[in-house]
Parts: sequence; structure tokens; C-alpha cells
Amino acid sequence: MSDYHMENEIIHGDCIEVMQSMPSESVDLIVTDPPYLINYKTGHRKDRSHKFCTTIANDDNAELIAKYISECYRILKPDTAMYMFCSADKVDFFKEQLDSVFEIRNMIVWVKNNWTAGDLTSAFGRQYELLFLVNKGRKEFSGTRISDVWRTKRVAGLALEHQNQKPVEIIERCILKHSEENDLVFDGFAGSGTTAVAAVYTNRRYICVEKDSYYYALARERVAGLNASVLFPDSIGRGLRTGSMEF
Ligand SMILES: C[S@@+](CC[C@H](N)C(=O)[O-])C[C@H]1O[C@@H](n2cnc3c(N)ncnc32)[C@H](O)[C@@H]1O
Repeated sequence: MSDYHMENEIIHGDCIEVMQSMPSESVDLIVTDPPYLINYKTGHRKDRSHKFCTTIANDDNAELIAKYISECYRILKPDTAMYMFCSADKVDFFKEQLDSVFEIRNMIVWVKNNWTAGDLTSAFGRQYELLFLVNKGRKEFSGTRISDVWRTKRVAGLALEHQNQKPVEIIERCILKHSEENDLVFDGFAGSGTTAVAAVYTNRRYICVEKDSYYYALARERVAGLNASVLFPDSIGRGLRTGSMEF
């Protein structure tokens, strides 16, 4: 159904305002990666003016997450799924908020090929991130049943253009498991546009929103570059996968 003017666009703005302009029950799948509420910024760059040395927008705004979750529920069609990343530090909050509106199906553990620093002598390095799979009603997955532990490399080096950038193959897996070709996928916290990239790769329509002007421009460029890399396969593809998913 939905035929918004904003379809297949990265929208520059506030996700709540954009969602409030969207009709109820119009989206087939949400794959989203909100601010983790941990005020994260890297301490590992020599150049302190680097973008990664600034906390991402709303990384302390719990009220925004609560509002977002209820808007997600409203815009999703009946019997659909949503995937939402969250930090292990704030898992209680995210779980409580999701549980108040959705049916929680899984708390997927994404095992990465690196681990956090933190207190090096009192806590072990955390090597995972969490990804909730929730349903509005009941949504069956496509294909074979898989485990709730997913292993894939994180995005690293020059390919890392957003400090919270997720591997394309994880988002692709979510899309393939819980939507059909040409379905509409939504992400209100686009960052570098990974959900849009995965939607293009899997022939889904998408609506993605990003508030930060720098990341908005980056996401648009990244999606535009996909078209270029189809035409010119030797050009640098910014949507490239980091490696295959392992089970
Ligand atoms: C965790 S990051 C997403 C990273 C993304 N998954 C990727 O692969 O690049 C969350 C993003 O949400 C954006 N953001 C924060 N508040 C927002 C809001 N109210 N509306 C839209 N975007 C927002 C931040 O600027 C940040 O880029």
C-alpha cells in the first residue's frame, strides 16, 4: 500500500515528527538501532575534533526511546516484526519498554570479533551486542529456523564511517527473515544509512530518518554510491559487507 513521497529516501529530521506524519499500519518491518543511552564517544582518537569524539544525538534521552517504541507499534501493520539493537548496559530499560507494547520473541546476541576496554582488571571484555526481535501480533520468519547467537565481524578501519555503524549483513538477515520483496522497511535512526543499504540490496522499499546533518549527508551519499557501484563495479562500494554471517 503506502506510497509516501518520502519512500526510498533518507529524511533529514526528527524521527518522531516524521513518524507522526505517517499513517498507522503502513510499514512492513522496522530494523532500527537507536541511541544506546550511554553517552558514548570514543576516547581512542588522537584528533579530538574527529566526529567520533562527539556523543551522538539523544544518547541520554530515554523519553525519546519510549515515544519511539510506541510510534513504531502504531505505524507497523498487524502481524509484523521489529528488530531493535540495544546496549547490554541499558537492556532492562529497553526490555521493559518493548515488553509494554510488543511481544518479545528473541534477544539475539551478536558476537563480534573485538571486545570493549572498560575496567581492564575488574571486568572481562564484552564481545557482544544485543538485538531484540519483537512482534506486533505474530509474524512467522521466512526459511529455516536459526539460532539466536549471530557471529559476524564488526565494521572497522576506513569502512567505519559512523561510530555505531552496523554490518550490512546483519540488517540484511533481519530483512530477509521478516519481509518480502518490495515491502516497506522503516528505520528512524539511520546513522550512516545501513538499513537503507540493506533494503536496496534486498529489493525492499525503505524510509529512513537521521537528525544529524553530517550523518544524514553521509547516509545519502552512501546510498547514492550503491547505484554507482552497480554501474561501475570497480568503484569503492561503501555498502560492502564485512564478511559472511556465521551461525
Ligand atoms: C546508533 S546510531 C545508528 C547507526 C546506524 N545503525 C548505522 O549503521 O550507521 C543512532 C543515530 O540516531 C540519530 N538520532 C538521534 N536522535 C534522533 C532523532 N530524534 N531522529 C532521528 N535521528 C536521530 C543519531 O544522530 C545517530 O546517527
